[in-house]
Amino acid sequence: MRSIPLTFLARVLSVALLSCATLPATAKTPAKVAAHPPGAAIASAHSLATEAGLDMIRKGGNAFDAAVAVSGMLSVVEPVSSGLGGGGFFLLHDAKSGRDVFVDARETAPESATPAAFLDAKGDLDRDRAQNGPWSAGIPGLPAALVHIAQKYGRLPLSTTLAPAIRIARDGFPVYARLEKGYASRRSVMERYRGTREVFLSDGDPPKVGETFRQPDLARTLELIATRGRDGFYTGETATRLLATVKEEGGRWTPAELSNYRVRERAPLRFDYRGWKVTTAPPPSSGGVALAEILQTASGWDLAKLDPAHRTHVLVEAMRRAYRDRTIYLGDPDFVKVPVSRLTSPDYAAGLRATLHPEKATPSELLPGQPAPLEDDETTHFSIIDAQGNLVSATQTVNLTYGSGLVAPGTGVLLNNEMDDFALKPGTANAFGVMGFEANAPKAGKRMLSSMTPTFMDSPGKLVVIGAPGGSRIITEVLLGMLGYDAGLSAQQVAALPRIHHQWMPDVISAEAGALDPATVRALEAMGHRVNAAESAWGNLQTVAWDKRGNTLEGGTDPRNPTGKADVLPVASAAK
Ligand code: DON
Repeated sequence: MRSIPLTFLARVLSVALLSCATLPATAKTPAKVAAHPPGAAIASAHSLATEAGLDMIRKGGNAFDAAVAVSGMLSVVEPVSSGLGGGGFFLLHDAKSGRDVFVDARETAPESATPAAFLDAKGDLDRDRAQNGPWSAGIPGLPAALVHIAQKYGRLPLSTTLAPAIRIARDGFPVYARLEKGYASRRSVMERYRGTREVFLSDGDPPKVGETFRQPDLARTLELIATRGRDGFYTGETATRLLATVKEEGGRWTPAELSNYRVRERAPLRFDYRGWKVTTAPPPSSGGVALAEILQTASGWDLAKLDPAHRTHVLVEAMRRAYRDRTIYLGDPDFVKVPVSRLTSPDYAAGLRATLHPEKATPSELLPGQPAPLEDDETTHFSIIDAQGNLVSATQTVNLTYGSGLVAPGTGVLLNNEMDDFALKPGTANAFGVMGFEANAPKAGKRMLSSMTPTFMDSPGKLVVIGAPGGSRIITEVLLGMLGYDAGLSAQQVAALPRIHHQWMPDVISAEAGALDPATVRALEAMGHRVNAAESAWGNLQTVAWDKRGNTLEGGTDPRNPTGKADVLPVASAAK
């Protein structure tokens, strides 16, 4: 894990706390606002992806074309995080119609994935099956999203928007530390599979920093998608290879499961917070519901007026309650009834607030099952604004580092291990230490619950696009970023903000080293909290924002990740 200098964290934290003194977004003096952003802005976890997106804008494309180019490129340059073998959520705002839509490209469970299939002879969760190889993989959704977004919202053909990704897959890109380190952590699993060895050991050794990493098979699969659309992946040659590999490695997918995969367009979840109109991820993400619960619960306090210990206490108690509800109620709304309007109503938050002692931690109830240790944080997020005011907030993933580790020979496609996001055994924690019950039990065609939380925040003066990877910590990472914007921080300061997290179980506050000073930790402990005050840095937040009054664009890329890039293209170069 990466670390950032203490002094830097402390400085940013004090900026955050000081600027908490600013007024809520609604209370600011009304002033003239610009009708359109003065150009385009993109933030992503890799400079090649940000550049590919900006290239599409230069070619006359819109934010949706840029999103296809960025997503395609991330699938090539961050195989450790996301790719064609995985899925994602794309929150879109179409400026012309004024419509917001949530494109759900989450993986689905194959029919073979019954709960019993993931238990060993003793009835315990078989973690190897849940996290490695063919059984851990859901039916991929990302290729369907690329095609859907290009055809329904883009202006440019896929042959143009996927061209940069195809070129880099074929010609290669320089290996960076996260790829090399991630490979070392998953090596024993990845090298079980012939297709994976062909990609990652093509010259006999694993990828090393500075070497050029080429994926010619992946270039061909991307080309097939560019020319044949959905059929380039879900039927025909690629599908045949994927099905054969899953079978050869002992898993079971049917051709119909692949060919019937469809993205879902869902209505985003909306709520208000201190004058911001928040548009965010509905189920099967748990992110929007949890954000609404946490922010609406916390809105009973003026966070700016609280000392750091009480501010942290209020946030943590709100997080604890929201993550408890996540565990019990949330799952795929196509399969279970999720009480979204109850959980996101301000009255429900008022009820939660009434249970919150201002000076004392509420101990989390215990449930059977030992939380497992956290895995490395992968997954990737990008944020886009264009000159028309179109917006994209997208988080995509193969779940854990290098997903299932399984590449189908001849395709370059590394399959996800998203099945671990289901509650495979009720009450038993997954890789992120979160558990679930019936609402998130696996079932044929069902989407596993996610924490991915692509979000927009809009106020009279500012428009924000924000999101992040980090497993169950995604929600609190986005939450703290939103509070940073509300406190008046810049996009870059928001991306750098020190992080804290609580997820009900385990009952502990996780804090990055330097996020909480020793006096605050002591005060929290006196209230009954357990605090891990010096955890390694986590997350990789990417955000862009438009200041409507000053008519300026800015981007923020997480300083914890050296490959990220946020950039702004002024209007002269960004076609109107
Ligand atoms: O959808 C989810 O919530 C997870 N599969 C995301 C995984 C992730 O962020 C990995 N990084 N820690």
